[in-house]
Amino acid sequence: MRKIEAIIRPEKLDAVRAALEEKGITGMTVVEVKGRGRQKGITLQWRAGEYRIEFLPKMKLEIIVDDKDVETTIGTICEAARSGKVGDGKIFIYPVEQVVRVRTGERGKDAI
Ligand SMILES: Nc1ncnc2c1ncn2[C@@H]1O[C@H](COP(=O)(O)OP(=O)(O)OP(=O)(O)O)[C@@H](O)[C@H]1O
Ligand SMILES: [Mg+2]
Repeated sequence: MRKIEAIIRPEKLDAVRAALEEKGITGMTVVEVKGRGRQKGITLQWRAGEYRIEFLPKMKLEIIVDDKDVETTIGTICEAARSGKVGDGKIFIYPVEQVVRVRTGERGKDAI
Protein backbone atom coordinates (compact mmCIF):
# COMPACT_ATOMS: atom_id res chain seq x y z
CA MET A 1 0.00 0.00 0.00
CA ARG A 2 1.09 3.55 -0.68
CA LYS A 3 0.07 6.98 0.52
CA ILE A 4 -0.26 9.43 -2.33
CA GLU A 5 -0.06 13.02 -1.21
CA ALA A 6 -1.01 15.43 -3.96
CA ILE A 7 -0.77 19.20 -3.69
CA ILE A 8 -3.06 20.76 -6.28
CA ARG A 9 -4.77 24.03 -7.18
CA PRO A 10 -7.94 24.51 -5.09
CA GLU A 11 -10.03 25.08 -8.23
CA LYS A 12 -8.98 21.66 -9.57
CA LEU A 13 -10.24 19.73 -6.57
CA ASP A 14 -13.62 18.81 -7.98
CA ALA A 15 -12.21 17.72 -11.36
CA VAL A 16 -9.64 15.53 -9.60
CA ARG A 17 -12.28 14.10 -7.26
CA ALA A 18 -14.53 13.23 -10.21
CA ALA A 19 -11.72 11.72 -12.30
CA LEU A 20 -10.59 9.52 -9.41
CA GLU A 21 -14.16 8.44 -8.73
CA GLU A 22 -14.44 7.30 -12.35
CA LYS A 23 -11.42 5.06 -11.76
CA GLY A 24 -13.03 3.63 -8.61
CA ILE A 25 -10.87 5.56 -6.16
CA THR A 26 -13.19 7.19 -3.64
CA GLY A 27 -11.46 7.33 -0.26
CA MET A 28 -9.41 10.42 0.42
CA THR A 29 -8.68 13.15 2.93
CA VAL A 30 -8.54 16.75 1.76
CA VAL A 31 -6.78 19.53 3.64
CA GLU A 32 -6.57 23.23 2.83
CA VAL A 33 -2.90 24.16 2.94
CA LYS A 34 -0.54 26.94 1.95
CA GLY A 35 2.68 26.32 0.11
CA ARG A 36 5.40 27.49 -2.20
CA GLY A 37 7.50 25.84 -4.87
CA ARG A 38 10.31 26.94 -7.13
CA GLN A 39 8.87 30.38 -7.86
CA LYS A 40 8.76 31.09 -4.12
CA GLY A 41 5.18 32.35 -4.06
CA ILE A 42 4.12 35.15 -6.35
CA THR A 43 4.87 38.86 -6.89
CA LEU A 44 1.85 41.11 -7.40
CA GLN A 45 1.79 44.62 -8.84
CA TRP A 46 -0.42 47.00 -6.88
CA ARG A 47 -0.72 50.72 -7.66
CA ALA A 48 2.67 52.28 -6.93
CA GLY A 49 4.57 49.18 -5.98
CA GLU A 50 4.74 45.44 -5.85
CA TYR A 51 4.48 43.02 -2.98
CA ARG A 52 5.10 39.35 -2.51
CA ILE A 53 2.81 36.60 -1.37
CA GLU A 54 5.19 34.02 0.07
CA PHE A 55 2.67 31.16 0.42
CA LEU A 56 -0.17 30.35 -1.96
CA PRO A 57 -3.38 28.49 -1.08
CA LYS A 58 -3.40 24.88 -2.26
CA MET A 59 -5.34 21.69 -1.56
CA LYS A 60 -3.63 18.61 -0.23
CA LEU A 61 -5.16 15.24 -1.07
CA GLU A 62 -4.13 12.24 0.99
CA ILE A 63 -5.06 8.98 -0.67
CA ILE A 64 -4.09 5.47 0.44
CA VAL A 65 -4.19 2.94 -2.38
CA ASP A 66 -3.21 -0.64 -3.10
CA ASP A 67 0.13 -0.94 -4.94
CA LYS A 68 -1.66 -1.93 -8.13
CA ASP A 69 -3.59 1.39 -8.16
CA VAL A 70 -0.62 3.72 -7.63
CA GLU A 71 0.16 4.53 -11.26
CA THR A 72 -3.52 4.95 -12.19
CA THR A 73 -3.99 7.34 -9.29
CA ILE A 74 -0.92 9.41 -10.14
CA GLY A 75 -1.81 9.55 -13.85
CA THR A 76 -5.41 10.51 -13.14
CA ILE A 77 -4.42 13.30 -10.76
CA CYS A 78 -1.82 14.69 -13.19
CA GLU A 79 -4.30 14.74 -16.05
CA ALA A 80 -7.15 16.31 -14.08
CA ALA A 81 -5.04 18.83 -12.13
CA ARG A 82 -2.87 20.13 -14.95
CA SER A 83 -3.34 23.63 -16.38
CA GLY A 84 0.12 23.79 -17.94
CA LYS A 85 1.09 26.87 -15.94
CA VAL A 86 3.46 27.11 -12.98
CA GLY A 87 1.91 26.07 -9.69
CA ASP A 88 0.04 23.00 -10.96
CA GLY A 89 1.29 21.06 -7.96
CA LYS A 90 3.28 18.08 -6.89
CA ILE A 91 2.74 14.48 -5.86
CA PHE A 92 4.62 12.64 -3.12
CA ILE A 93 4.41 8.88 -2.57
CA TYR A 94 5.11 7.07 0.69
CA PRO A 95 4.98 3.44 1.84
CA VAL A 96 2.09 2.62 4.19
CA GLU A 97 2.56 0.16 7.04
CA GLN A 98 -1.02 -0.77 7.82
CA VAL A 99 -4.65 0.26 7.34
CA VAL A 100 -7.47 -0.65 9.72
CA ARG A 101 -11.16 -0.19 8.86
CA VAL A 102 -12.76 0.72 12.16
CA ARG A 103 -16.27 -0.65 11.55
CA THR A 104 -15.20 -4.11 10.48
CA GLY A 105 -11.70 -4.54 11.88
CA GLU A 106 -10.44 -5.44 8.40
CA ARG A 107 -6.76 -4.82 7.77
CA GLY A 108 -4.50 -4.22 4.83
CA LYS A 109 -5.80 -3.70 1.32
CA ASP A 110 -9.22 -5.12 2.26
CA ALA A 111 -9.55 -2.16 4.63
CA ILE A 112 -8.87 0.50 1.98
N1 LIG B 1 9.85 20.44 -2.37
C1 LIG B 1 8.63 20.58 -1.88
N2 LIG B 1 8.32 20.11 -0.65
C2 LIG B 1 7.08 20.23 -0.15
N3 LIG B 1 6.06 20.80 -0.80
C3 LIG B 1 6.29 21.27 -2.03
C4 LIG B 1 7.58 21.18 -2.64
N4 LIG B 1 7.49 21.73 -3.88
C5 LIG B 1 6.22 22.12 -4.02
N5 LIG B 1 5.49 21.85 -2.91
C6 LIG B 1 4.10 22.11 -2.67
O1 LIG B 1 3.42 22.05 -3.92
C7 LIG B 1 2.78 23.29 -4.19
C8 LIG B 1 2.81 23.55 -5.67
O2 LIG B 1 4.15 23.56 -6.11
P1 LIG B 1 4.46 23.97 -7.59
O3 LIG B 1 3.51 23.29 -8.51
O4 LIG B 1 4.55 25.45 -7.68
O5 LIG B 1 5.91 23.30 -7.75
P2 LIG B 1 7.11 23.80 -8.62
O6 LIG B 1 8.26 22.88 -8.34
O7 LIG B 1 7.33 25.26 -8.38
O8 LIG B 1 6.62 23.52 -10.11
P3 LIG B 1 6.16 24.62 -11.23
O9 LIG B 1 7.44 25.17 -11.78
O10 LIG B 1 5.37 23.84 -12.20
O11 LIG B 1 5.35 25.66 -10.50
C9 LIG B 1 3.53 24.29 -3.34
O12 LIG B 1 2.73 25.42 -3.06
C10 LIG B 1 3.83 23.49 -2.10
O13 LIG B 1 2.67 23.39 -1.28
MG1 LIG C 1 5.83 26.63 -8.74
